[in-house]
Amino acid sequence: MAISKKMEQAINDQINAEFYSAYLYLAMACQADDMQLKGLASWFNVQYQEEVAHAMGFVNYLQERGGRVVLQAIEQPRVEWPDAVAMFEQTCEHEAYVTSRINDLAALAVEEKDFAATQFLNWYVKEQVEEEATAADILGELRLAKDAPGAMLFLLRELGTRTFVAPVIG
Ligand code: FEO
Repeated sequence: MAISKKMEQAINDQINAEFYSAYLYLAMACQADDMQLKGLASWFNVQYQEEVAHAMGFVNYLQERGGRVVLQAIEQPRVEWPDAVAMFEQTCEHEAYVTSRINDLAALAVEEKDFAATQFLNWYVKEQVEEEATAADILGELRLAKDAPGAMLFLLRELGTRTFVAPVIG
């Protein structure tokens, strides 16, 4: 069954949203690097790579379904935050927004009885649970350590141990 035009458009919009997420986290990584906070920069660099992988998951899926990928302009992200806490506050907010977008896509798939899309989108539904939980956990720890430089340093170094593992999507 060919993918519908409506679903094709929605996936193209989501490709753009995932690349925007990649831009946003790369901007955070660059500022963290400017602040000489290597662990923080490294964490956001991994997050950036994950977002590119999410975008490519949608690109590959749309092509597999015979749809046409149309890349759109990527909006400029914010480029400055006062500190690591502010970065993770925005990360939490942004991931909640991405979850709502994924849920809308999943709802569209159900509405169209596109069960292949439903199956495919399940991966993203689960991924968003993890994305939101991880960001919330880190934000909680950073808030706790905000006025204790030693604890903050420990946390930021720990963030630097995260490595990128290419996700198997779908
Ligand atoms: Fe692509 Fe962070 O969700």
